[in-house]
Amino acid sequence: MTVANARASVNDASAITITPQSPTIGAVIGGLDLSCDLSDDATAVIRAALLEWKVLFFRDQDITTEDHLAFGRRFGELEIHPFGQGKSGHPEVLAIQHDEDSPGYENIWHSDVTWRLQPSLGSVLRLVEAPDIGGDTLFADMYAAYEGLPNDIKETIDGRVARHDFAGFRRGLRRRGATDEEVAEFDAKYPNPEHPVVRTHPETGRKAIYVNRAFTEEIVGMDKEESDALLERLYAQASFPEYQVRFSWAKNSIAFWDNRACQHYAVSDYWPQRRSAERVTVIGDTPYYDAEQIPVETTASPFRGAILRANRS
Ligand code: SIN
Repeated sequence: MTVANARASVNDASAITITPQSPTIGAVIGGLDLSCDLSDDATAVIRAALLEWKVLFFRDQDITTEDHLAFGRRFGELEIHPFGQGKSGHPEVLAIQHDEDSPGYENIWHSDVTWRLQPSLGSVLRLVEAPDIGGDTLFADMYAAYEGLPNDIKETIDGRVARHDFAGFRRGLRRRGATDEEVAEFDAKYPNPEHPVVRTHPETGRKAIYVNRAFTEEIVGMDKEESDALLERLYAQASFPEYQVRFSWAKNSIAFWDNRACQHYAVSDYWPQRRSAERVTVIGDTPYYDAEQIPVETTASPFRGAILRANRS
């Protein structure tokens, strides 16, 4: 008997290969066919690899939308983006398409949906159509970025919270003619959250910078000038290549990133070519800061380099 939507077979953990792409962030995962289910063991291996490498890359995954959703659901419940374009018939799939009429605008360092009270655990992006050249995505290790801060800045941000907002999407609503009442409804539904400036990762116990240029408005309890200057200093951490990995996409490449541990920046250099991607986004929990939480051991090296310019105060 054929069962509709039954998956062909199950991926086994023993076939998985993990190839790091930098000392601390990014690994290519081999030995998996994501058109098949993941066994519980394979899911556990992928989850552990994500915690260790913060972003995982998969190549040549010619999968269906259902396969993409099934993969995402192995790691948690999926969200529906209230402002983005959902794929027809699949509201949990965010369609990110750019072409001659719509240049890419995700070229700003960010972690996904930090304007939510419970921002995303992780995002799974599949490239459906790649430009001939360009359109890479950069990922920055925000643990390493935190560890690389000078001690006086670490002390200043210790225990602080910052306010986040969906200001860019609000401007988009206004451009598309939303009324004051409609905007007010969104404001009521998505009230500005205050998240810790430094987040303790709920699974690894490591500390990461958790403010980003796209969605953070201010550090609470500081005057504007001081908050702006400190945020600029923290945003700058993501921009050091020492903390980054860069991924060159091809059709059917997938990246799965941990929004609690890294930020990303989609390079918008391919206009007027077309680049089309689909993202499923796994819901996360409420961010917290716990100075006492002991980090779990990992084999990935913590960042041990020096960025001396950044450390001059
Ligand atoms: C995103 O910001 O989620 C999109 C990243 C990309 O298109 O590479």
